[in-house]
Amino acid sequence: MAVKTGTTEDVIAGPALQEIVGWLTETDEGRLAHLWRLAEQCRRDSVGDEVHLRGLIEISNYCVRRCGYCGINAGNRGIERYRMTQREILDCARQAVEFGYGTVVLQSGEDPGLKADWIAQIIRAIKKDTPLAVTLSLGERSDEEFVAWRQAGADRYLIRFETSNPQLYEHIHPSLPGRRSDRIAILRQLTELGYEAGSGVMVGIPGQTYLDLARDILTFADLDLDMIGVGPYLPHPATPLGKEYMKMPANSPDQAPNTELMTCKVMALARLVCPLANIPSTTALATVNRESGRELGLMRGANIVMPNLTPAKYRAMYEIYPAKACIQETADKCHECMKARIVAIGRKIGAGRGDSKAKYRRTR
Ligand code: 5AD
Ligand code: FES
Repeated sequence: MAVKTGTTEDVIAGPALQEIVGWLTETDEGRLAHLWRLAEQCRRDSVGDEVHLRGLIEISNYCVRRCGYCGINAGNRGIERYRMTQREILDCARQAVEFGYGTVVLQSGEDPGLKADWIAQIIRAIKKDTPLAVTLSLGERSDEEFVAWRQAGADRYLIRFETSNPQLYEHIHPSLPGRRSDRIAILRQLTELGYEAGSGVMVGIPGQTYLDLARDILTFADLDLDMIGVGPYLPHPATPLGKEYMKMPANSPDQAPNTELMTCKVMALARLVCPLANIPSTTALATVNRESGRELGLMRGANIVMPNLTPAKYRAMYEIYPAKACIQETADKCHECMKARIVAIGRKIGAGRGDSKAKYRRTR
């Protein structure tokens, strides 16, 4: 038995949904071992044994949004805010080249203080000085900004839709006044503009059911995503949702748990419905299992890791959830750590930019 893969019309059909719910609720170890084997085989056949490294630079922790889950949301007065300088960002990009990474990811809160021209200048500078692919993860910005950054040379954009359940989404990610948050529409627009588009969800959000997660997985296929990031929801005590989580009843049968196992199931199924996507083994997964979370992700569908390049002095201020992995480490340390973990499980360090094979197929 294999989850059906293919176009929207194939995938949205009822049986696929039920089949995915079946896997998400599966407890038999032998059956689960079969799911892991399917995901491994699919990953090997579609994107190979190379693991590509994307250097993550957390350029600003200012944010205007009040996302219920996120530790750097505007309502959190307990953290110091920072914005990196252009020089600091460029130094990190040069370090990425020295480490042999093919990509840098510029990530931030939704920060209007990061002006469109300023970001465009950095993109141009990185493109001029280095062979790196540039991925942006700067939140919901205007179409004009997406166009300008693409023209400046940005290759990819990450924006998770977090959950495909519209009521749950509005609850955890309130819209700004007069501007309904529609990340699915943004993702379609980004693809239209020629970006590689990346998205993803959190697993085990309070109120998220198995059926919700199954629909999330079908949405990955529907959007034909180039990149899919999945991590467990990790409650942050200084957030509204973190407080809700503490009061959640322990025994609601439909609630998807925020466990390592459930995250691995979603990653494995994401691989099966989007064979060609680039799928990272996330920091959130490494946070729930410090010992071997990264490796587990790589062995259950993932082919990407995102070592942190953010200067040590800023890392602790980018605590979107508590006890985040790599927060005490330096770029050098994360680089060595990632390489060792990849090699230890018999995989290869990716050469080149690790562009999306899904985009290649779509635009060929
Ligand atoms: N737990 C897990 N993941 C989180 N993110 C933000 N806050 C949390 C949290 N508390 C994820 C969101 C966001 C990405 C950058 O980090 O999915 O899109
Ligand atoms: Fe940062 Fe392992 S990747 S410490």
